[in-house]
Amino acid sequence: MFFKTFTDSARGLLQLVNRRAIIPQHPHVYSVGLGQEGPSRLYYETAKPVNTPVSDASIRTVDLRSDTVTKPGAAMRQAMAEAEVGDDVFGEDPTVNELQKMAAELFGMEAALYVPSGTMANLIAVMVHCRERGDEMIVGDLSHLHIYEQGGTAQLAGVHSTTVTTLPDGTFDLDQLESKIRHGYPDAHYPRSRLVCVENTHNIQGGRVLPLPFLKEVKALAEKYGLAVHMDGARMMNAAVAQNVTPSTILQNTHSVSVCLSKGLGAPVGTMLAGPHDFISRATRCRKALGGGLRQAGILAAAGKLALGDMITRLEEDHHHARIFAQALLECDPPLYEVDMAAVQTNIVRFRLRDPSLTPTEFCTLMAGVGECEQASIGQGVRVLMFPHIGGSIRAVWHLGVTLEDTQLATRKVQFVARQHSQQTLGAH
Ligand SMILES: Cc1ncc(COP(=O)(O)O)c(C=O)c1O
Repeated sequence: MFFKTFTDSARGLLQLVNRRAIIPQHPHVYSVGLGQEGPSRLYYETAKPVNTPVSDASIRTVDLRSDTVTKPGAAMRQAMAEAEVGDDVFGEDPTVNELQKMAAELFGMEAALYVPSGTMANLIAVMVHCRERGDEMIVGDLSHLHIYEQGGTAQLAGVHSTTVTTLPDGTFDLDQLESKIRHGYPDAHYPRSRLVCVENTHNIQGGRVLPLPFLKEVKALAEKYGLAVHMDGARMMNAAVAQNVTPSTILQNTHSVSVCLSKGLGAPVGTMLAGPHDFISRATRCRKALGGGLRQAGILAAAGKLALGDMITRLEEDHHHARIFAQALLECDPPLYEVDMAAVQTNIVRFRLRDPSLTPTEFCTLMAGVGECEQASIGQGVRVLMFPHIGGSIRAVWHLGVTLEDTQLATRKVQFVARQHSQQTLGAH
């Protein structure tokens, strides 16, 4: 119920934005009334709250804004310092070559390419699959590619997007997908459908893992009409760990994939793009055109090798911590939070506030501050950083910088904030 409401409100907002029924208050922020839910926002400024240093050393910061905030540890830094390097644009960097071979083998793909970011990897994949200007990709309406990558596929690649409705579990309806595929090329009225994009795990839908039968059906449908399937697998390794399957079990259902090394896997930079040999040859050309051809990139790739080697098994820890936190939200007394435990499948927890008088932004500000009496109530001052998320929800993300103890402190903090809010609300009546 919660997720239906959440997705409906997110999509309702999207439609309102599309119809321009919006009240611009800031270049990046729109506010709109939503029936009984009160004012709600679809898009937030994603850079807030900022992790400003605090002078009081006794205050603990638990940073749940994103799994992109991780910093490389000693082993990773040492591997980077000692990396063998060469000119990777000449194909001569041994460490990059090893990383690419390692990724291709792990993913069960013919070849892989080291790319600076997930956004660039997705853009390159779209450029390679959609070769002619005006070709079309079909993409979920709540996908990262559609919402958060600045329309780069249109802006830079000349690719037209058609959306399908993203369902609460990150999938979409296959009949709707089939209905969106254009027929009749070269009829002058239509773009040519070339590509279907899926996202696994699904970021906006709270780290949901795409079911394998769904992926199989998407691929079969795409191939029936001569389309390719690209997976934005920024967190595909979280999906593999959650499903307890090998990455290749998932990726046999796609033609290409992008997998980020710089999220839960803890590397400072980099995404692996993988697919067939001819796809990667073309991708290498596109990467150069986009300015992503790096020279002695082995210094970065050395961290990537550790990410793909040592860091995968620890993802289960993040999933476990996320579940502990979600359970605490559910059990909080007084009850302030709404969370669907069945949707907490990996390292992301998305939840809502039951009381519309407290907005997600106000809540995140309370969580990021250290309140009076907090020390006495929790045992220490704790700043918990998280983002207001799409459609009036709040998102918290686990990663290697968040320990079990941090998670427990964060659960105490949400309880503290709920108690304080309840007292203030009662006091006001
Ligand atoms: C699902 C998904 N895809 C792609 C990206 C883009 O990755 P990057 O920030 O490396 O460009 C992100 C980033 O958070 C993501 O969550």
